[in-house]
Amino acid sequence: MRTVRIISWAAVSLLIAAIAGALIYQSIFGGSDRSMIADTKMGAPFELIDHNGEVITEKALEGQPSAVFFGFTHCPEVCPTTLYEMATWFDALGEEGKNIRAFFITVDPERDTPDVMKSYVENFTDRITGITGDPEKVEQLKKAWRVYSKRVPLEDGDYTMDHTASVMLVDAEGRFKGTIAYGESADTAMEKLRRLAKG
Ligand code: NI
Repeated sequence: MRTVRIISWAAVSLLIAAIAGALIYQSIFGGSDRSMIADTKMGAPFELIDHNGEVITEKALEGQPSAVFFGFTHCPEVCPTTLYEMATWFDALGEEGKNIRAFFITVDPERDTPDVMKSYVENFTDRITGITGDPEKVEQLKKAWRVYSKRVPLEDGDYTMDHTASVMLVDAEGRFKGTIAYGESADTAMEKLRRLAKG
């Protein structure tokens, strides 16, 4: 009897350790839905530069729902795919998604100047505003949004960025409403956007 009890305690302890480990891993490296709780207020103040070279602040996210994606223009796959998909979702939604504002915030502000952001984003759509600016301020915004990114050196001396790949959805009152995961189906993504648009 005693052996059974010890074994079950060992199992429970292991399980607890595994869960704690997973939670710690998630809080450090996580970029998924679970790293943020629904309805968390997202109104962290910021002062950055939009792709037209104008100052942009947290006010740009107030008063209408927003879809926010962090990435960088040198991204080989995730960012171009996501921007392309966002463009097609907004096209397909038409009037239904018209009140949603969309933002592409760079995690690589050293290379992504406003000009670079503008030509990159406008290649996909005129529905998304690129945001860049002082690297220190971008870093603060990333922290506030619990976005992960990390510079990864490449063999040729260049570098790429690992980064959170979800589109974050925020309502008109600045409350976090969930994410659209990378690779999510167009139907699901548009359903989420429809819900977001309705508020
Ligand atoms: Ni990317």
